[in-house]
Amino acid sequence: MLAGLVSLAPIEGDEAEFHIFLGETHRRGRGVGQAATTAMLQRAFGELRLTRVVLKVLEANGAARRLYQRLGFQTEAQGEVSKDGTYVGLVTMALEAHRFAAGQDRSAIT
Ligand SMILES: CC(C)(COP(=O)(O)OP(=O)(O)OC[C@H]1O[C@@H](n2cnc3c(N)ncnc32)[C@H](O)[C@@H]1OP(=O)(O)O)[C@@H](O)C(=O)NCCC(=O)NCCS
Repeated sequence: MLAGLVSLAPIEGDEAEFHIFLGETHRRGRGVGQAATTAMLQRAFGELRLTRVVLKVLEANGAARRLYQRLGFQTEAQGEVSKDGTYVGLVTMALEAHRFAAGQDRSAIT
């Protein structure tokens, strides 16, 4: 059963861009997004040895932004993008390997 997709693309040097989409709305809000994002970041900073993962998220997408913040992503820039003929806020967020590792250590202790 396919709940959604996560990807790291493109990977350029030691940095990659993260994307996630859970297609089935009834599966949202149960921790699947956090589990999938955590697994992908563990792979990114572990096996792939990346040092930074970046992403872009609509300012209005509160669920996604809270998820990324919980995992340690920080806002790097705020801009705008044209969506259906209107300009909406677009936030660029980034997470460094050491910050992710520190968060994983904290959640292992608590
Ligand atoms: C954004 C998206 C990835 C989040 O996935 P999700 O599975 O709903 O996320 P989670 O369940 O991990 O977290 C969502 C909420 O459920 C809560 N939750 C409920 N049960 C949970 C559990 N067992 N474990 C962890 N969190 C749980 C979380 O605390 C969180 O609450 P909050 O929004 O108040 O902070 C998903 O909604 C999605 O794919 N949306 C459409 C595409 C999209 O917006 N992609 C991001 C583009 S940048």
